[in-house]
Amino acid sequence: MESGGIAALREWRAAQTGTVALVPTMGALHSGHRALMDRARESADAVVTSVFVNPLQFGPDEDFDRYPRPLQDDLRLCESAGVDFAFAPALEEMYPSEPEVTVSSGRMGRVFEGAARPGHFDGVLTVVAKLFALARPHKAVFGLKDIQQFSLVKRMIADLDMGIELIGLPVVRDADGLAMSSRNQYLSAADREAALALPRALEAGAAHAEAGPAAVVTASREVLTAAGSDRFELDYLSLVDAATFRACPADFRGSALLLLSATVGGTRLIDNRPVEF
Ligand code: PAF
Repeated sequence: MESGGIAALREWRAAQTGTVALVPTMGALHSGHRALMDRARESADAVVTSVFVNPLQFGPDEDFDRYPRPLQDDLRLCESAGVDFAFAPALEEMYPSEPEVTVSSGRMGRVFEGAARPGHFDGVLTVVAKLFALARPHKAVFGLKDIQQFSLVKRMIADLDMGIELIGLPVVRDADGLAMSSRNQYLSAADREAALALPRALEAGAAHAEAGPAAVVTASREVLTAAGSDRFELDYLSLVDAATFRACPADFRGSALLLLSATVGGTRLIDNRPVEF
């Protein structure tokens, strides 16, 4: 496996004759990322993984400074996953100065996670656009745990005619049901127990799909209320149209998403589940 910053990536990319798949990450890699890399490997001749903690997507009071950066472990995981190039640029290389021109994520970027984290999705789309420009991939693989991010990247590719095939991988869960996330390592054992209310609430909601949108939300909310503890603070629980992220009306037909976010022991967690009506 090769690795390096922008110059090394450009050189590696210029030498590729087949298809290239990109797996963008912020490092602290776990088996959820490994699944993305495996999927990329199956989908293209060569795989590039980026490992870059992007300051533009963190708010002033968020965990940019304490975000884990175990680069050597990350490179080992990339190598064992058969990644061809690990792109790990320095901060100054990606942002020699604060960018003047950035990508705007629009209305869909200002609701749910975007409402809780103003500017977050503009920061995500800006760095993803830069990664696309640098790696020039034919395909890009993202996890569906960050479903709003996935949907916005999809819109950016379509709206800006980027011509990249986007592949979404279903949420990868630990044996106890918790969606894998680099932030799970902040959770104490008691926080983790409290956090299990998220997947349970989503499952309970999805089990009521036949009874309609209102029943789905009610069933989910009941699980969260029953789990209520001083460690668990619900931010949002909502059933939305998967295409628009607007709330599903009572007579909704089609593909919906049940979205959930809560702060558990000071750590913000998100999860989601598709629901068909
Ligand atoms: O999902 C993430 O890890 C990040 O938001 C991404 C896509 C790598 C952009 O920094």
